[in-house]
Amino acid sequence: MAISHVCAQVNPYQYSISKTAEGKNGAVSSAHPLASMVGCEILKAGGNAFDAAIATQLALAVVYPGAGNIGGGGFLVAHTKKGKTITIDYREKAPAASSRNMYLDQNGNPLLEMSQNGHLASGVPGTVAGLFKSHPYGKLSFDKLIQPAIDLAEKGFAITAAEARSLNGSKSAFIKYNTIPPVFVKSTSWKEGDTLIQTELAATLKRIQQEGAKGFYEGETARLIFEEMKRGKGNVSLDDLKNYQAVERPAISFDYKGYTIIGMPMPSSGGLLMQQMMKMIESRNIASMGFHTPASVQLMIEVERRAYADRAEFMGDQDFVRVPVKTLSSKKYLEKRMSDFIPGKATSSDVVKPGNINPESEETTHLSVADAEGNVVSVTTTLNGGYGSKTVVAGAGFLLNNEMDDFSVKPGVPNMFGAVGKEANAIAPGKRMLSSMTPTVVLKNKKPFLVVGTPGGTTIPTSVFQTLVNILEFNQSPLDAVNLPKFHHQWLPDQVAIENDFPSTVQDALSKMGYSFQKRNQIGRTEVIKINWQGKKIKNIEAVADKRGDDHAAAY
Ligand code: GLY
Repeated sequence: MAISHVCAQVNPYQYSISKTAEGKNGAVSSAHPLASMVGCEILKAGGNAFDAAIATQLALAVVYPGAGNIGGGGFLVAHTKKGKTITIDYREKAPAASSRNMYLDQNGNPLLEMSQNGHLASGVPGTVAGLFKSHPYGKLSFDKLIQPAIDLAEKGFAITAAEARSLNGSKSAFIKYNTIPPVFVKSTSWKEGDTLIQTELAATLKRIQQEGAKGFYEGETARLIFEEMKRGKGNVSLDDLKNYQAVERPAISFDYKGYTIIGMPMPSSGGLLMQQMMKMIESRNIASMGFHTPASVQLMIEVERRAYADRAEFMGDQDFVRVPVKTLSSKKYLEKRMSDFIPGKATSSDVVKPGNINPESEETTHLSVADAEGNVVSVTTTLNGGYGSKTVVAGAGFLLNNEMDDFSVKPGVPNMFGAVGKEANAIAPGKRMLSSMTPTVVLKNKKPFLVVGTPGGTTIPTSVFQTLVNILEFNQSPLDAVNLPKFHHQWLPDQVAIENDFPSTVQDALSKMGYSFQKRNQIGRTEVIKINWQGKKIKNIEAVADKRGDDHAAAY
């Protein structure tokens, strides 16, 4: 495979996809070539990894409307050249008018259509606040970082074949969930190479350029969001928008065989799940079992099952509920958790209610960035489902999230990812819904070594888990670690999701142990950056973009 060593100049009408890139000065890996190219150009223009992450996110909000966003939320995990660890929580919040049973009918039955689609499914967006919260760590003006996104929205860009398919597939939903037809709806079908121009989105981005976060949370944009809410009976208010704050939080950080693994704390379950899963395998010499053997896969399935059972019971927004993080990650607890693990035999999950997973709806997006100074930034951001609530703010041109479905709308009732939850993740005004997003940084000898993350709903933590185990235990290259088939278990439903190319011999062996399977076209779209050091200097930076989508790696 050809490795790209240069930041290709952004040409929005003609570009190609590169899955690997290598350089000494910086790298970006994201879900879309134009977004990675924008990030790489910002690095080249003197920006650092934080600058590039901001510009890449803004570009994704234009060129990848299915998941890139300013109407959603996300998490950032970073490690600076000075050795500081940073996490920023810009997860959406339940509007003040939300209530615990807002998605239940008179008989207490769940109304999932309302938590998953249209205006009432939206939480208060956090992305723009998150971008500004991370900006003090950058070097360039926000004005400069947002300009490429404005250009892409205003002058348009050529859509990929995947984007054309996706827009065509969502046409009826765009018509159904919008009071005014958005730019994504046209009379004929979209095809690869068509130019998508988003004039209203460009105007919104310009307001943000001129007024900062207030250009989104107050004034004209806020008014347009509020008008949209009124038209569609949503409940995000002007006060909800004005009061939204992104928050810096203490990271989840733990040692794994000499590596330091850094992840996101609540309200994302990602960091804690990662700690639980890594620590449950640490003493079991998984490397000796071999990659994709029945023994190693079974061990990983069983730690996934146990961690996800804890997710359902205990995890939620720590600003509202007490999450026993210390206990759940303690050695004693995790040893006890694995005491009923029997090699060669499936443990059974208590079936509360099997979830219906909709594999088409796992649209979140991840970007990994590294610069020559030694800053690394890992960002996962989302609208939740593909195109979120499918509702576009008329006049403002951006999609709103359907993140309210990440709450537990009723104890034991699966959300769109089949995940169940209880009290800890019940809806409350101002609360953040539990996430699975797992932006991750790994340090080796205290220096940044890996930047990892992926979309994929509840499959996110297990995909990052496998990627880390593949590299740290099975000595795989980042490319293999990303591209080789993935599997996933989330306690309920009690089945192992596997990609179509998962080895059938391993599946057969696991079936005999008592496991059942569900095939998936794909699990995740993982972006990895690996930094190789020569003493105190960076030798080179390798970027890998997942084979499973339009994902693109850029470096120079
Ligand atoms: N909306 C997907 C997640 O936050 O886990």
